[in-house]
Amino acid sequence: MKQAIYVSAPGRINIIGEHTDYNGGLVFPAAIQQSVLCKLTPKDGLGLTFKALDLDDQFTIDLNDDFKPNAKSWVNYLLGVLHQLKKQNCQLGGFELKFHSSIPMGAGLSSSAALCCGFVAAINQCFDLRLSHWEMVKIAQKSEHEFAGVQCGIMDQFASIFGQKDQALLLNCLTEEYSSHKIDLEKYQLVLCDSMVKHELASTEYNTRREECIAGLAAFKERNPSIETISDIDWDDLIMEVAFMDDLHFRRLSFVVQENERVRASAKALATNNIQQLGKLMYQSHEGLEQLYQVSCEELDFLVDQTYQMPQVAGARMMGGGFGGCTINLVKRSFLPEFRDRIQYAFHQRFSLDTRFIEVEIGQGVSIISEDQLPDDSPLLSQLRQDI
Ligand code: GLA
Repeated sequence: MKQAIYVSAPGRINIIGEHTDYNGGLVFPAAIQQSVLCKLTPKDGLGLTFKALDLDDQFTIDLNDDFKPNAKSWVNYLLGVLHQLKKQNCQLGGFELKFHSSIPMGAGLSSSAALCCGFVAAINQCFDLRLSHWEMVKIAQKSEHEFAGVQCGIMDQFASIFGQKDQALLLNCLTEEYSSHKIDLEKYQLVLCDSMVKHELASTEYNTRREECIAGLAAFKERNPSIETISDIDWDDLIMEVAFMDDLHFRRLSFVVQENERVRASAKALATNNIQQLGKLMYQSHEGLEQLYQVSCEELDFLVDQTYQMPQVAGARMMGGGFGGCTINLVKRSFLPEFRDRIQYAFHQRFSLDTRFIEVEIGQGVSIISEDQLPDDSPLLSQLRQDI
């Protein structure tokens, strides 16, 4: 009998480049230290058991059963991955999967992508499927499309699988070419502030944004047929179309075109340690997400607005799909305690809620680990280790 496989699959941050991935554009994400830990134990027969330790919930199914989306959202991510593997005629057997996540759920840190990526990597290893990194990325993405109903882009799965310690990855989502960029922020630290608004609603609005972009691109193509994606459009050409396009579509396309430019400029700013410039681009990105793309919310705007009064914060913006989740802030290290105090106080005054802060550490992408490499013990981790 084969040994149990342990896999650690990280969540992600995104320095800049939001809602550009499904528009053939540029993103600049990095894997974080927080991860989903999966333990996959092969079993005789075709029975499958999934155990979500954090939710104290479990689910069983047979490999030969017809897989359909389920009422439990966490189960869908796993069934969605298996569905893709079955479509590709991968030879699988029975197993038990247990997982535990240190990525806060619904906080815009891609806990669901991490689960899909960790799961597909564990299966890949256990059943010797020899899938490439990109194949695993696509399987995890399709699982979200077909079983979770979110027409997500490729950024989250890419960051979770390809992530490199202390590096941000500049990805062209159309060509799938990427480069690694060392994150050296000198006196600054990336800090996330959680708006405490869970972004479940995002799935419907997220898909709407995607449809609006498709419609906007189609309108633009009527007079510019050679253009294939929004990310191919030059700003000057877009401006020429303002009178011929629906205002909403024009705003959505404007955001994407400008955001791609900001990603390019941010990579340069990072390379030259121009933190102030990077921060400025982050603020501009937030403004575009709020006003042109309209995916922010009151709590996120409030968190970003607070930082305008703090010269020790170089930049801030909402991060991820939006409608909740976290802001990402570029904060002087020496100012961190005061930053936390002031934001916490203001947020509590305004919303009668405590926000949560996460100091970002850039971690490694999906890794097969040994039992000894599991982090310090906790009751859930001992459950993960147990063989039953
Ligand atoms: C979510 C999606 C990603 C990406 C971001 C927005 O995280 O899963 O594919 O579109 O939103 O940049």
